[in-house]
Amino acid sequence: MSTNASNHSIHFDSSMPDDDRRRALHEGQLFVFSCLPSVQRFAQFARGMIEAAFAPLDPETAQYALPVERYAQILGELKPAFIHAPESKEHVRSILEALGCDPRQTYFDVPRLRSSTSDDYLTSGIAYAWHPHRDTWYSAPLCQLNFWLPVFQIQSGNGMAFHPAYWSRAVRNSSSDYNYYVWNKVHRGVAVARIIGEDPRPLPRAIEPMALDPQVRLLCPVGGVIVFSGAQMHSSVPNASGRTRFSIDFRTVHLADALQRHGAPRTDEACTGTTMRDYRRVTDLASLPDEVVAMYDDGTAGGGEAVYAPPPSPGSADRDIAQ
Ligand SMILES: [Fe+2]
Repeated sequence: MSTNASNHSIHFDSSMPDDDRRRALHEGQLFVFSCLPSVQRFAQFARGMIEAAFAPLDPETAQYALPVERYAQILGELKPAFIHAPESKEHVRSILEALGCDPRQTYFDVPRLRSSTSDDYLTSGIAYAWHPHRDTWYSAPLCQLNFWLPVFQIQSGNGMAFHPAYWSRAVRNSSSDYNYYVWNKVHRGVAVARIIGEDPRPLPRAIEPMALDPQVRLLCPVGGVIVFSGAQMHSSVPNASGRTRFSIDFRTVHLADALQRHGAPRTDEACTGTTMRDYRRVTDLASLPDEVVAMYDDGTAGGGEAVYAPPPSPGSADRDIAQ
């Protein structure tokens, strides 16, 4: 006997099979894995890239030694390089296999490297401080699952927060202004590394006051990973910790969920377009079948770009910011 509408269970180091785990995630439950060798390796890989980019400075405190423009420039080169490193995809694949995801049915999007600077040093553009949002306001399907892992040790004051009361509560929001294909064509390629002040991009957000408490901050060690539904309301914790937080996240879609429309309940999403063309199969990096994409496409692709084509120059958004 259970009520699913408000099930905020948090599973620690669960051995639940993936089919059951996805069902629980689609009900709003959260999963934390405290230490997986594959996650540890990915974090170490990212750490190496980050340390090289900021050398000889300590990346967690480099913000205090650099002009913000220079800092944004470093991130503007580092983040696309991380996304496009062949090792990044390999690490995602090994994590998903370690977690028992069926590699023939699981599709993933490229992993992003995130940073959250302290003391409002840089909170826009390349280091956007995320206001509370659901990824499903950004054209992600309701079956999307998110994976989030710290690169350096996080603390309560620089991680991310979930706002579970909003799992089943609608918020008035601006997602009706968001079309994924227009985003790809118009906003995604802008030079975010040059955005230092107010961020001009039309990112969906709540348009009514939100109650951010109660909120849940899951603090796993490096080597740990948090898994949650893309429909979860989540945000960057305003960072006053004195240390920049670096984290990685990536997303998955399971073929059977997509075909059967299993996923989180629709709450308040009004965006158009779909990210379904972005996911790649674990086994061979194939796209989702056309008929699956067609199930989620709403015919608005003509107004933009169905699939983002990154510009060749460094420093562009390059898939780093959306969602
Ligand atoms: Fe998000």
